[in-house]
Amino acid sequence: MQFLPLTFVLILESFHLALAASAVDQFTFDGFAGENLTLDGTAVITPDGLLMLTNGTTLLKGHAFYPSPLRFHEAASGGGAVRSFSTAFVFGIVSEYADLSSPGLAFVVTKSVDFSTALQSQYMGLANARNNGNASNHFLAVELDTIVNAEFGDMSDNHVGIDVNGLASAAAADAGYHDDRTGEFRNMSLLSRTAAQVWVDFDARTSLVNVTMAPLELPKPKTPLLSAAVNLSAVIGEEAAYVGFSSSTGVVASRHYVLAWSFKMDGPAPSLNISKLPALPVTITRAPSNILKILLPIASAVLVSALAIAVLVIHRRRRKYAELKEDWEVAFGPHRFSYKDLFHATNGFSDERLLGIGGFGRVYKGVFPMSGVEIAVKKVSHESRQGMKEFIAEVISIGQLRHRNLVQLLGYCRRKGELLLVYDYMPNGSLDKFLYAENRPIMSWSQRFGIFKGIASSILYLHEDWEQVVLHRDIKASNVLLDVEMNGRLGDFGLARLYDHGTDPHTTHVVGTIGYLAPELGHTGRPSKASDVFAFGMFMLEVTCGRRPISQDAHGGRFLLVDTVLDHWRQGTVTDIVDPRLQGDFVVEEAMLVLKLCLLCSHPLPGARPGIRQVVQFLDGGMPLPELSQAHISINMLALMQNQMGNPCSITSSVAGNISDIPRAR
Ligand SMILES: Nc1ncnc2c1ncn2[C@@H]1O[C@H](COP(=O)(O)OP(=O)(O)O)[C@@H](O)[C@H]1O
Ligand SMILES: *[C@@H]1O[C@H](CO)[C@@H](O)[C@H](O)[C@H]1NC(C)=O
Ligand SMILES: *[C@@H]1O[C@H](CO)[C@@H](O)[C@H](O)[C@H]1NC(C)=O
Ligand SMILES: *[C@@H]1O[C@H](CO)[C@@H](O)[C@H](O)[C@H]1NC(C)=O
Ligand SMILES: *[C@@H]1O[C@H](CO)[C@@H](O)[C@H](O)[C@H]1NC(C)=O
Ligand SMILES: *[C@@H]1O[C@H](CO)[C@@H](O)[C@H](O)[C@H]1NC(C)=O
Ligand SMILES: *[C@@H]1O[C@H](CO)[C@@H](O)[C@H](O)[C@H]1NC(C)=O
Ligand SMILES: *[C@@H]1O[C@H](CO)[C@@H](O)[C@H](O)[C@H]1NC(C)=O
Repeated sequence: MQFLPLTFVLILESFHLALAASAVDQFTFDGFAGENLTLDGTAVITPDGLLMLTNGTTLLKGHAFYPSPLRFHEAASGGGAVRSFSTAFVFGIVSEYADLSSPGLAFVVTKSVDFSTALQSQYMGLANARNNGNASNHFLAVELDTIVNAEFGDMSDNHVGIDVNGLASAAAADAGYHDDRTGEFRNMSLLSRTAAQVWVDFDARTSLVNVTMAPLELPKPKTPLLSAAVNLSAVIGEEAAYVGFSSSTGVVASRHYVLAWSFKMDGPAPSLNISKLPALPVTITRAPSNILKILLPIASAVLVSALAIAVLVIHRRRRKYAELKEDWEVAFGPHRFSYKDLFHATNGFSDERLLGIGGFGRVYKGVFPMSGVEIAVKKVSHESRQGMKEFIAEVISIGQLRHRNLVQLLGYCRRKGELLLVYDYMPNGSLDKFLYAENRPIMSWSQRFGIFKGIASSILYLHEDWEQVVLHRDIKASNVLLDVEMNGRLGDFGLARLYDHGTDPHTTHVVGTIGYLAPELGHTGRPSKASDVFAFGMFMLEVTCGRRPISQDAHGGRFLLVDTVLDHWRQGTVTDIVDPRLQGDFVVEEAMLVLKLCLLCSHPLPGARPGIRQVVQFLDGGMPLPELSQAHISINMLALMQNQMGNPCSITSSVAGNISDIPRAR
């Protein structure tokens, strides 16, 4: 009898435990057929039981989460010590190309499943340019990344990374594993189109996240591929959190799959039964069917004549879509677009798709019919083969430049006598159109000021933040394009290089646009960071005043905008020069700052100009501007230019309109 109360307590105790454990602590999916996951975007569970995160359409994202949140802390009410967890999953990536894909996929532990503002492409559906890395994101991700993104410091196009709140990894390693017997590292390819297994283990005691991967047929290797210390409690907060996967596609149509997944709190993840997994669908060319073999002899007569016609048609199509391809281009394969695709995307380079005619050739708008991705295709006629290899190598390396204020170069195509460069399409066209065209809305001062900051930061990226110094050499209003949100993006790289290679290397020839050329280019002919800063100053001047940097009066006399500004500066009436179309609606302090900065950037001595990093700081208001010297204010730039480079206006003919270039100094 005296045991009764104790039994009662025991029953109560187990009842309590059962309540606490009602939150799920463990699950195993050997395939996902009939399972209940929270899906969004492109994510679906296929009839075969594969979790397909992206479906082979470009520029989309997809997520899949376990439907209920899991308790990551000891106390049922939230709070308490953080718990260890462990997960295992099998993934597969099937790209349309053997060696190029879209960004990849990630396992995620996250406070919220709302990734609606996250971007696709390199952001993997997890973050966007504004909130990348912000602690308010509250996620821990393990990324399987197949693209090098310089802005996130990616190590290779085949790496695994541990990410906290953003896409820049806390730790990363090339995909692979350490052999248990020999300890040797063995490479694995994320793009191999074969499934592989990944384990993520978090030890609450040491705060270490370990990531391990291996081919399907191997057991879990003892040594993890990479580890990072993560304060999980600080990342996801005290409440329950979700676990799942995120993926996205960029310009390459890839499919990202998860084949199986298990998870466990406070212990090793249940092992996955590999023999039960659905197969990874890899496109296979089918052998002809038996019925065809029987029909073939009967229909052969018909077929022969049909074939003859087909050969004729194909031959004509071949000519129509013929490209020029050389052996050295194999390495650049992924960046090459087929002429046929570009031809169809631009409606056969039809006139209604013509966006404009620049110094180098025509620019057309294109739309890829399947994905709806919009591009701009620049057709450059080019006969010389000389230097083509170097040029294409540069195009590829320029294509790796990534900054939100640069127009992304996507790739190229080559035909006889013709080169096609493919860029991101900028729906709002170039900035000069907004400054001078009658039928466009006036750009407000705050838009202009925002564009100055954006373009300055992109030049900073080119000059200092990229692995090599990149000089733009042709910064000007018509090379600043406007994206959907009216952000300024610097475009038009790399063309003069082609002409540089084609011409006699001993003739110095000035590259750039009249009015934006720094005076020292007249005698040195050598572009520098300082000459880019000069052009940027002229650009800000043009946009602030709404006037071309160089112009002619009614009597054919030429004057430089910078001289007019210097005049006004001497007379203390400098704000009078601001674009009259703004009708006085601008911030005087900002306009003063910009005009003074323009004068500093246009200093005749390259050494006296500020560096682009300083320019960025001045524009952000983080640093006061130095005073202009008396000698500087009393300069007449036109006279000085004529002195240094002859009549600046006469150079036009030898400069081939407007050319840009990317020489790379180390
Ligand atoms: N990526 C792009 N997206 C949209 N329009 C573009 C793009 N690139 C160029 N354009 C348009 O094509 C015109 C000609 O371009 P471009 O050859 O770069 O001119 P330029 O050589 O005079 O700088 C530009 O004025 C611009 O309106
Ligand atoms: C991929 O998913 C998107 C969005 O769900 C859909 O619009 C598109 O048609 C799908 N593409 C394919 C090839 O299934
Ligand atoms: C899936 O799970 C969610 C959350 O647990 C639940 O609300 C929903 O009813 C489930 N759906 C099915 C079909 O079981
Ligand atoms: C991070 O996000 C919060 C909320 O969205 C925002 O207030 C804050 O300014 C952001 N911090 C940074 C450094 O961008
Ligand atoms: C792994 O692959 C990288 C890139 O392909 C290569 O540079 C490296 O030598 C390889 N390492 C091993 C051990 O095979
Ligand atoms: C993580 O890896 C280290 C060795 O690098 C190991 O000592 C530790 O036990 C591992 N932790 C887990 C949770 O697997
Ligand atoms: C982890 O973060 C929490 C909350 O921000 C903090 O209280 C705790 O001290 C941190 N732990 C460590 C080991 O830094
Ligand atoms: C794995 O699945 C197969 C086929 O369903 C089954 O025969 C086998 O017993 C399973 N193995 C384990 C370890 O559960």
